[in-house]
Amino acid sequence: MASPSYTLDLRRSAIGTVQLPGSKSLSNRALLLAALATGQTQIRGLLDSDDTAVMIESLRRLGARLDQQSLESTSSAVGPEVIWVVEGTGGCFPSVGSQTEPIDCFIGNSGLTIRTLLPAIVAAQAGTGSVTVLRGVDRMHERPIKDLVDGLRQLGAQIDYLGQEGYPPLRVTGVALKPKSEIVVKGNTSSQFLTGLLQAAPQLSRQWHQPVVVRVEGELISRPYVDLSIGMLRQFGVAIQESAPNCFVVQPCDLVSPGALFVEGDASSASYFLAAGLLGGGPIRVQGAGRTSLQGDVQFAHALAQMGAQITWGDDYIESRAAGFDASGLPIVQAVDLDCNHIPDAAMTLVAVALYAKTPTRLRNIGSWRVKETDRIAAMAAEARKLGATVEEGPDFIVVTPPAQLRTASLRTYDDHRVAMSFALTSFVHAGDMDGDMGGEGVNAPGGETVIPSVETRGHSPEPRSGALTPSAESLQGRAVTIEDPACVNKTFPTYFEEFAAVCAQAVPVIAIDGPTASGKGTVAGRVAKALGYAYLDSGALYRLVALQSLEQSVAVDDAKSLSAMALDMQLRFEGEQVWLNGRDVSQAIRAEAVGNRASQIATQPMLRQALLRRQRDFARLPGLVADGRDMGSVVFPKAGLKFFLTASAEIRAERRVLQLQARGESADLGAITADLQARDARDAARPVAPLKFVPNQGVHYLDTSDLTIDQAVAQILAWSSAQT
Ligand code: C5P
Repeated sequence: MASPSYTLDLRRSAIGTVQLPGSKSLSNRALLLAALATGQTQIRGLLDSDDTAVMIESLRRLGARLDQQSLESTSSAVGPEVIWVVEGTGGCFPSVGSQTEPIDCFIGNSGLTIRTLLPAIVAAQAGTGSVTVLRGVDRMHERPIKDLVDGLRQLGAQIDYLGQEGYPPLRVTGVALKPKSEIVVKGNTSSQFLTGLLQAAPQLSRQWHQPVVVRVEGELISRPYVDLSIGMLRQFGVAIQESAPNCFVVQPCDLVSPGALFVEGDASSASYFLAAGLLGGGPIRVQGAGRTSLQGDVQFAHALAQMGAQITWGDDYIESRAAGFDASGLPIVQAVDLDCNHIPDAAMTLVAVALYAKTPTRLRNIGSWRVKETDRIAAMAAEARKLGATVEEGPDFIVVTPPAQLRTASLRTYDDHRVAMSFALTSFVHAGDMDGDMGGEGVNAPGGETVIPSVETRGHSPEPRSGALTPSAESLQGRAVTIEDPACVNKTFPTYFEEFAAVCAQAVPVIAIDGPTASGKGTVAGRVAKALGYAYLDSGALYRLVALQSLEQSVAVDDAKSLSAMALDMQLRFEGEQVWLNGRDVSQAIRAEAVGNRASQIATQPMLRQALLRRQRDFARLPGLVADGRDMGSVVFPKAGLKFFLTASAEIRAERRVLQLQARGESADLGAITADLQARDARDAARPVAPLKFVPNQGVHYLDTSDLTIDQAVAQILAWSSAQT
């Protein structure tokens, strides 16, 4: 089922550091080799995503042992570090399947998993008679695998097509193999076929007591991925040489666990943030892959440099920023004509960047896009056209002519993570956006939400950047990009949109005000926002909105999945004190005690908190944001320029709440309200994820308002704020 669409409103700048998730390519190679090897392998930095999940589950079904261990982390925001412990099978998968009850490996839409697992099964179950079925989602059954099957059949492997000839699903029967002096494979559809054979070669060489030669017939695409495979095999003690171009010799040997492995950050995932560094001015640093990376996709940075980025390389990071800005302060983006054979995945990102140039960009030698998660050439062309571009596509190229103005559009993502991640970049301001009305009252807020900032403008600036757009009260109206089924990014980068929202939010001055229930932080935050002309986020209202819906629809407090779906799906509009939920004015309803109570209960669910993360970050917009809640400074806006912890004694807070209720004409019992506040405080402070607590010496200003009027509290915060600017 498709996830609720995500509408990204225009954003101007992006700054910050992104910790990359583990490389998918390295993660899946490491898992398979560790499962085939002798000895135990401890893998750190493994990617947690759909594609790794299907590899792990398949290996378990084949009889390998893979367990997760948690290490206490030093950073509370990211949770404990996970280590995967893989017990090697010594080259023989122990499970046995039969014709009637085969081992059932579901590999989703992970091309790398099926293409590396198939040769591994053929080699590791040779002669056992064991039967395994490899199947995936519908799209996987349209992705070719014939070249690899043909390569394996040269060895006598018994592989049957269970559907269409040449495509998964497949049935593999573990028959004895015939030693061959040379295995020939085609490499012009996918380099993963070669990788699969190379990873199985140590098993074969051991069984046959002779070197195994794997030779690519014809063209080999995406060569850097093959180098990645060779590098990983060498880490497992394999002696492998390229005896002639595209001809590889593996000496008889055991795969031996290196003991510990560290998976570097994903260079393909880095491409979106490096591009954001150009389109949003930057600098953005991607941490986890750099100069010493094994992954070919780090070469994307060179392509981006040709398009106008200034790139800085570190051993394990890459940083990108716009090299120049035009007269209106927008980054200058140059069109390119590039052979992208060496960076097939990351090159998709260039399509989005090309929309910001002035002349056409041509990406060549990308025929493999046609047989990936979707027909990527067709998909990128169709969606870029919806944005107003003129696109020419051929069997192995795409030419993108940028439009004068990008259009508001709802973009299909074809169950393809890279389509979704690339087009999110089109939410950056485009030259065409600058021509419209720049001085409207409202600021477009996430998902059609409207925040009315007040008029006086004063405040902090983001880190100065020469030549770039400087913050001002002006607001850009109108254009928005809707990403359909955004959860498709779970394939390789489940937290992509949260990270994307975070770097955009970091370019905006944020004042974070956290504190317990009824500490007065809402009233104070609202007034501070008004005084500075900033937008205001009442994050508690978001929890209350989910709580209200959960009460109305009888969703249980622990039904994290339904609660998160509601959080992602709700259509919101904020105008001053008024709040609309799916078109209904719920300003009063969400303030009811029962709703507040329910909000505090559901707020303990990590999945719900995650679902609300990007929605909260999307409220950050120029000229600035004041956000109040429990975890604004610690989790949602950890880079906020100013952080406050606002509190008051429990008695004072209870008295204030009673007065508030009485003012609304509601009855209030001081004893009951005090008990209720204490229970909520305890829940907020005790939850394992994003607990409410004041940690001294972390740059957070502590303000006890027990003896202060609202005006005094506001004045105090404004004084701190102006002292900082
Ligand atoms: O601030 P308010 O009382 O409106 O928040 C309602 C509830 O939502 C709180 O009791 C708290 O448990 C939860 N909340 C949260 N994190 C936030 C804001 C509110 O957990 N940032």
